[in-house]
Amino acid sequence: MNEPLPVGAELPAHGGVGVALRHESAYLHVAGEAVYIDDILEARGTLHAAFGLSQRAHARIRTLNLAPVWAAPGVVAVLTAADIPGENNVGPILHDDPILADGEVQYLGQPIFVVVADTVDHARRAARLAQVDYEDLPAILTIEEALAHGSFVIPTVRLERGDAKSAIAGAPHRLKGSLRIGGQEQFYLEGQIAYAIPREDGDMLVYNSTQHPGEGQMQVAHALGIDAHRVTIECRRMGGGFGGKETQGGLPACAAAIASRHIGRPVKLRYDRDDDILITGKRHNYLVEYEVGYDAAGRILGVEFMFASQCGFSADLSGPVNDRTVMHADNAYFLPHVLIVSHRCKTHTQSNTAFRGFGGPQGMVAIEHVVDEIARHLDLDPVAVRRANFYASGRDLTPYDMQVEDFVADRLFDELEKSSDYAARRAAIRKWNATSPVVKRGIAMTPVKFGISFTATFYNQASALLHVYYADGSVLLNHGGTEMGQGLFTKVAQVVAHELGIDVDRVRVSASDTARIPNASATAASSGSDLNGKAAQAAAREIKARLAAFAAERFGVAPDSIRFAANSVAIGDVKRMPFAELVKLAYYARVQLWASGFYKTPKIHYDPKTLRGRPFYYFAYGASVSEVAIDTLTGELKLLRADLLHDVGRSLNPAIDLGQVEGGFVQGAGWLTSEELWWNAQGKLMTHAPSTYKIPVASDVPADFRVRLWSRGENVEDSIHRSKAVGEPPLMLAISVLHAIKDAVAALGDYRLSPRLDAPATPEEVLRSVDELRARLTHRSSAG
Ligand code: MTE
Ligand code: HPA
Ligand code: MOS
Repeated sequence: MNEPLPVGAELPAHGGVGVALRHESAYLHVAGEAVYIDDILEARGTLHAAFGLSQRAHARIRTLNLAPVWAAPGVVAVLTAADIPGENNVGPILHDDPILADGEVQYLGQPIFVVVADTVDHARRAARLAQVDYEDLPAILTIEEALAHGSFVIPTVRLERGDAKSAIAGAPHRLKGSLRIGGQEQFYLEGQIAYAIPREDGDMLVYNSTQHPGEGQMQVAHALGIDAHRVTIECRRMGGGFGGKETQGGLPACAAAIASRHIGRPVKLRYDRDDDILITGKRHNYLVEYEVGYDAAGRILGVEFMFASQCGFSADLSGPVNDRTVMHADNAYFLPHVLIVSHRCKTHTQSNTAFRGFGGPQGMVAIEHVVDEIARHLDLDPVAVRRANFYASGRDLTPYDMQVEDFVADRLFDELEKSSDYAARRAAIRKWNATSPVVKRGIAMTPVKFGISFTATFYNQASALLHVYYADGSVLLNHGGTEMGQGLFTKVAQVVAHELGIDVDRVRVSASDTARIPNASATAASSGSDLNGKAAQAAAREIKARLAAFAAERFGVAPDSIRFAANSVAIGDVKRMPFAELVKLAYYARVQLWASGFYKTPKIHYDPKTLRGRPFYYFAYGASVSEVAIDTLTGELKLLRADLLHDVGRSLNPAIDLGQVEGGFVQGAGWLTSEELWWNAQGKLMTHAPSTYKIPVASDVPADFRVRLWSRGENVEDSIHRSKAVGEPPLMLAISVLHAIKDAVAALGDYRLSPRLDAPATPEEVLRSVDELRARLTHRSSAG
């Protein structure tokens, strides 16, 4: 034991930072063995719940006859708002979001009551039997109606820098127009679900598929009218969240807990897929109006935007979502004079919420539309106009007064333009189109710049708890982040393994649990690994410092001569021993073998009233080139090739990051091309199943898909190992798909007219755009 091990005798530890490890649950995922909430073995006496949903968009409930529900087979209880012991609210910011509608319904699909039965089937069948006498009230169903009525969930916000009106009026060229941008259903594979288990003396345990266990704990405590320390929320993993479980996982948690408290038995509530889509909020759809003044090179001199988003019946996260739209209406471009007005429209529809990009994508689609319009009106290559407007030195202040200090979109553009062969392909496509009357091709290159940090500064904090077991030196880590498939647990385990110099499979990350980490922020804003990685690193460093101090004293060497690597500890030149052995010695010497870590993002500050400050620690960047073909007789569309180049800084895990880039892009392409939400005149969302709501499938991934992480990426800020957040930004690489489609439509008019194309560019919308352009061409030729 006292013989020093020869240097190099042991293999380096496996799976530290920067290694392309598979997802920690990859095998469990593919084998179907990963435990999601509905897979948890049910406790004795478990009952199942279902919501009874409003059939009207806006109505007063005159009478609610639940007798037929009570009489249905297997029913144990039926609960209404009157049965909620505490507060009837799940609104995360404003208290305008009832758990169960009380007297008035505000959207079609709103939960009115909960029925609890012996089986899922009995509960769902019984839920449909209520007899509700509605007195219809006027319903506001669209952005236009909301604007006309001044119907808003929160007040309008204005951001002004310089004098946009004069800059536009004095510009050599001017354009104005409008654009519609559709919403998007999160379509996580695992639907919303909670499983509440009563514990002794009124305590409550809730297994919940949620991105924000800490908030769920608070909501359940308030709904039950008990202290937060009596409520535990646990989530090992979600089958996807995509923002849809940032707040809205709280509703099933509250309802299951209320029912469980009422009956005294475990209650599980899992939404049926159609109900899930009817009940929950989505990405906000927008109406955008703009006016821009620019010079002959296409440089923007002044721009005005009016954003109006459909928030639905309650505020939920609409404030910060719309703020992020405002703060991404520049994308990668310097806007010298700018005025942005942002209306947050209240409608009698689902309460829209977070979705990957959190309002940013809509702002970016808007400015990319403006830049593309400028290019088409000047008959310039849109890529040249994009370049002309990029942030640059002396032109580096965002509309919200943050200095852009890490701009690399220009370098990504240069690299991708070459590697994708953009210029030659653009020329070839134009030639090809000249001889192809029906099928037209199009190509576009767009940049991404995305702000990283929660705009609400206080959310940018995280805690971790690290245990080392003396039995074998294995490590258990807990942090406040949640795993939704994005690979957070894998990355954080790598950070800890790297710090302690041990194999990554010596580190296990346990389920997110409010009893271990209090007050954790939502895993959102792409900041999961930035925040929790740093917190875990801090905890690991503390353990390391304690072990080093102990070893230094025991073996009479300086603490800084102790190194942790290759699953062992080198103690000066004196000695080397396995990590587990030092842990055991330390335990017997009564060294504390657990540590906590805390992190808060430095440098950031932001005033939500004026929308000014430094809301983001840094920016993530990317660039993409998409090539499409459209059939101008049917509107059909095929994405032929996509080249993506994305900056993840120094990647913590290139395999996971690549997956995030690919998945984000495909999800973004679905948003902009095939996913269409459609409400009928009564306010019923008719696209509430995959039969009518088309998310991308494997065959929608382009056959030629060239995805690269930027090899020169490095965070200029002191982020975890100089990596960059990757969860949301790649979604916006898909904006090039929309512009490639527009380019293809423009071919019909020999690129002399700019097509009118809204998002999503579904086949119907492409055909409408084609017909509209053709009509303008006919009008032109008959007039001329
Ligand atoms: N990737 C998968 N597989 N599943 C998800 O639900 N959510 C996205 C993104 N990538 C999501 C995902 C969203 S909306 C965010 S904010 C980030 O992951 C959150 O995780 P992170 O902060 O750890 O990147
Ligand atoms: N992004 C995502 N989620 C959030 C944010 C944000 O900026 N702010 C509050 N929740
Ligand atoms: Mo992601 S929209 O910030 O959950």
